Amino acid sequence: MPKKVPHRLYLTEDQMPKQWYNLRADMKEQPAPILNPGTLQPATVEELYPVFCEKLAQQEMDSTTRYIDIPEEIQDFYKMYRPSPLIRAYNLEKALGTPAKIYYKFEGNNTSGSHKLNSAIAQAYYAKEQGLTSLTTETGAGQWGTALSEACSYYKLPLTVYMVKVSYEQKPFRKSVMQTFDAEIIPSPSNTTKVGQMILSQDPNTGGSLGCAISEAVEKAVTTENCRYVLGSVLNQVLLHQSIIGLESKMAMEILDEYPDIVIGCAGGGSNLGGLIAPFMQDKLLGKANPRIIAVEPASCPSLTRGRYAYDFCDTGRVTPLAKMYTLGCDFMPSANHAGGLRYHGMSPILSKLYHDGYMEAIAVEQTKVFEAAVFFAKQETILPAPESAHAIRGAIDEALKCKETGEAKTILFGLTGTGYFDMTAYNAYLNGTMTDYIPTDEDLQKGFERLPKIPGIQ
Ligand SMILES: Cc1ncc(COP(=O)(O)O)c(C=O)c1O
Repeated sequence: MPKKVPHRLYLTEDQMPKQWYNLRADMKEQPAPILNPGTLQPATVEELYPVFCEKLAQQEMDSTTRYIDIPEEIQDFYKMYRPSPLIRAYNLEKALGTPAKIYYKFEGNNTSGSHKLNSAIAQAYYAKEQGLTSLTTETGAGQWGTALSEACSYYKLPLTVYMVKVSYEQKPFRKSVMQTFDAEIIPSPSNTTKVGQMILSQDPNTGGSLGCAISEAVEKAVTTENCRYVLGSVLNQVLLHQSIIGLESKMAMEILDEYPDIVIGCAGGGSNLGGLIAPFMQDKLLGKANPRIIAVEPASCPSLTRGRYAYDFCDTGRVTPLAKMYTLGCDFMPSANHAGGLRYHGMSPILSKLYHDGYMEAIAVEQTKVFEAAVFFAKQETILPAPESAHAIRGAIDEALKCKETGEAKTILFGLTGTGYFDMTAYNAYLNGTMTDYIPTDEDLQKGFERLPKIPGIQ
């Protein structure tokens, strides 16, 4: 007899993973090395130390250690909000009339409202351990800034957050939450850094981008004593910390005798998707299983589906190391869509490599279709999703509707990364019919590709 599947499955604290999983250890081919922007040679770990905390720089470069112990202090912090539930979307299935079984891993059940806390606490912990006295970062939608503010406040580490200007204006309450946790918030681009001044001189009315905010945060870190920069996505270390999402999901599914046919996640810089898929991708790489893995990105910022696989800067000011990734060009200025966390020109080098090698698929979806899915989902499952997360919902609903046509009872797992309670301006725009869909033309994208860095002998 099939097992009765509860609406929500929570692992016990004892069952929680005690190690993160490093996907690179099982990749047949490694992502291309990051390059030092000065020498254009592969960067060494020591070259990363002025920007990143040392332990995190080591994790960034480690492509061989398969499992990395989660320090006990981090495990204890995780227990304040983890394990997160694996939820069977019975109501959504019923409303869609699909034979598919839909599961989602809900990461919005903590004050920061998203999965970002999983890496924020790890990064703040290692910074404190190293004796750093302050940190800087950027935030787009505000979730990463919120999560890091909480983590820094826990470790009493002063934090400066460069917040993308459009989000700063769209989401004043996000700012208030970060300030509650003592963070200093600066709308980016700003006059507080040289790179911000340069970007403003070129376009005084720019709404900013994650790429600009990263440049400002890095500049502040390298010009402030005993301060380092931390990033909430894209990097290998962040995907490592986020592997807790996938490890818990897989364990919970095993308890239910389930295994996903399809795993779906939204993709901004790739951290939640990389974390969710990690152990399933491991099965795929080792030939143990072959789930379909689908990244869902906004049609307004389509790095995987329409970008180039090339070396590019991770920031607009061209100060960071160069990473080989799917990119729209570091100067690409995405339209002011409402999924701020997905407005990034590049993509995690790990996911880019896996996508390039055919291990995963990607689709791009329009904003109004995403909000249609968000509202439908909210009515069935009573969780108001973050606009970013709603991209994954859109993907899952569309796959479930295909099952309805074919009559297949596929098992779908998607990542519900966060809640959308600070995104009511966006919901209002959708509900009152003023939301529009912007899709860049090929000519728009070409401008970004033309400015990709030229690297002798490489590109
Ligand atoms: C709720 C939520 N989901 C997803 C993302 C996308 O980031 P990533 O691709 O790193 O998971 C963000 C980024 O801010 C976010 O806030």
